[in-house]
Amino acid sequence: MSHLILVGFMGCGKSKLGRRLSYRLRRPFLDTDKEIEMEQEASINQIFAEHGEAYFRSLETNCLKALLWEKEEHVVSTGGGIVIREENRELMKMLGTVVYLKVSPLTVYERLKGDNSRPLLQGTNQLEKITRMMSQRKHYYEAAAHYVVEVDGKSLDELTEEVRNLII
Ligand code: S3P
Repeated sequence: MSHLILVGFMGCGKSKLGRRLSYRLRRPFLDTDKEIEMEQEASINQIFAEHGEAYFRSLETNCLKALLWEKEEHVVSTGGGIVIREENRELMKMLGTVVYLKVSPLTVYERLKGDNSRPLLQGTNQLEKITRMMSQRKHYYEAAAHYVVEVDGKSLDELTEEVRNLII
């Protein structure tokens, strides 16, 4: 079984690209954030506020484990912090091909300005927060991935083709 798994920082476009790829590759799409929200019947913000980040990370691990039993090859988009846990990085490598969508802090800042659905980016000094978190996570994304794809300045169509070419 070889799923296509997209990882990368918040706002790098994993879900949008994942949906497009699932259409182009004719494979079902799964978004770990959406799966978790559906299963918990709560938003990511609520889960973080009520149970904390560690609990959310365990839900991400459970979600990846459930994918081990999937019979069909999926396109999977993940939450930006899924790579932090070593167990998750190992699970993803077992599950298929992992593509890291690499984006610049400024692009993320521009895309997520005014967004309040990401609990870890709330408050002031957003660009600073994004830059710091990204540099802390950089090596986790690189360790998790088989391929790195630069996102800045590319259209959705270009990115779709680039990722598709990696796996066909
Ligand atoms: C997170 C990223 C979010 C979501 C949660 C935590 C992170 O997903 O899982 O808010 O730690 O980077 P997106 O990358 O889809 O925004």
